[in-house]
Amino acid sequence: MSIENPKTAYSKREKIQDEFEGSKGNDVYTPEYAIKPLLPYLKKEQMIWDCAFGSGRLAKHFNKFGFNVVGFQNYDFLKIHSEDIAEFDIIITNPPYQFKDQFLKRAFEIGKPFAFLLPLTTLEGMKRSKMFRDNEIQVIIPNRRINFEIPSGKKSAWFATAWFCYKMNLPKQLNFVELKRE
Ligand SMILES: C[S@@+](CC[C@H](N)C(=O)[O-])C[C@H]1O[C@@H](n2cnc3c(N)ncnc32)[C@H](O)[C@@H]1O
Repeated sequence: MSIENPKTAYSKREKIQDEFEGSKGNDVYTPEYAIKPLLPYLKKEQMIWDCAFGSGRLAKHFNKFGFNVVGFQNYDFLKIHSEDIAEFDIIITNPPYQFKDQFLKRAFEIGKPFAFLLPLTTLEGMKRSKMFRDNEIQVIIPNRRINFEIPSGKKSAWFATAWFCYKMNLPKQLNFVELKRE
């Protein structure tokens, strides 16, 4: 029998974020500054796969800094064979929070480097802890929350998030960074 830990369950806040970013399309999106802590660890020649491509806003942020991103709207990352994707070197995305565990599991199975922007609370949880220990996860932790924007400017959703990274040769397991909101 498994007992769900209320602290690590899919939170109301995460649900709101998913509803904005997923089913309601472009109402809320990850701001450009959120990718900056990751950039020093990427190489321009790498092909990035955004496996939760959605409307492709995250890809556009990376394009702006000279990185190449491949991604498609109509497939299920949890089912697709990675060989069916054109060549890629690294998976980078902001997965739907509701499916973060499934996305992590699938990404570990694929076995290539990845970086997922996820709620900081993803560090919690017994099953996740094992998954992270077994796979030597590394984390980039910004010093402030990210404001997931709504273009209309009427509302925003503030989240403490971190980049959960695998096989990216970060200098440490926990990398505390200063995040500038520009
Ligand atoms: C947080 S949004 C990020 C979208 C995009 N990366 C961006 O920043 O513009 C998560 C996206 O994952 C998509 N998604 C949900 N389940 C998925 C799945 N199983 N496979 C691939 N994409 C999925 C949703 O439709 C949503 O667009």
